[in-house]
Amino acid sequence: MLTQVIAHRGSSGIRPENTIPAFIKAIEEGADGIETDVHLSKDGAMIIMHDETVDRTTNGTGRIFDKTLSELKQLDAGAYFGYEYLGTRIPTLQEVVELLIKMDFKGEFNLELKTDKIQYSGIEAQVAKYFKNTEIPFHLIYSSFRPKTVQLIHKLCPETEAASLFKLRTKSAKKFAKSKLIQDWHPSIAWVRSHRFFLPRIQLRPWTVNSEDDMRYCYKRKLKGIITDYPERALSIRREVQG
Ligand code: G3P
Ligand code: MG
Repeated sequence: MLTQVIAHRGSSGIRPENTIPAFIKAIEEGADGIETDVHLSKDGAMIIMHDETVDRTTNGTGRIFDKTLSELKQLDAGAYFGYEYLGTRIPTLQEVVELLIKMDFKGEFNLELKTDKIQYSGIEAQVAKYFKNTEIPFHLIYSSFRPKTVQLIHKLCPETEAASLFKLRTKSAKKFAKSKLIQDWHPSIAWVRSHRFFLPRIQLRPWTVNSEDDMRYCYKRKLKGIITDYPERALSIRREVQG
């Protein structure tokens, strides 16, 4: 089995992260999957962005949760990365899913619920309901840094893969290991490189695997997947290591 190459926030090394151009590029490059992050706006829209605030990647300031969808849609989410992306808007989850359907994307779609800093009451049920009512050609994987969110989403849709996210010094890793429910772990690459042993039943997809050395390491260990800002580079190294 080849290690899956999953584009982190789309092809975010070469396009503005978590935008339509980044997702199109990931599919064009042949990534096996796409990872992205979802929040809720003030009026309950499912918003695709990494940070809880719009400050770093747009020309606005403030929290997503304090803005309506129409306020968020006025912001520019491309110019921070390069002037040629001026005019790029923040996408909603529906817009990204529609794009993937239009492009007939059949890979992995890893949706990270960003509930670790702001809990966005009801986001799990909202996302689960949306996907229950939407026919999708791709394979969905939920993930979150918040164990409660992972458990809740797993309870709401046990047939969908759910992954626990964690960083190097997390205490939750032991808790996850004991849980028979969650079969996927999405740890940081630093955690993977410092833990040589893990339960074989657990599927690992570390992030953010950007260096050639880390990519080769993951391929040699035949991990389930890697989450990278540079899918094209990752695919070319994979061809060398795994054929
Ligand atoms: O889902 C993997 C990775 O995206 C987790 O960290 O902060 O980039 O969302 P972050
Ligand atoms: Mg993420």
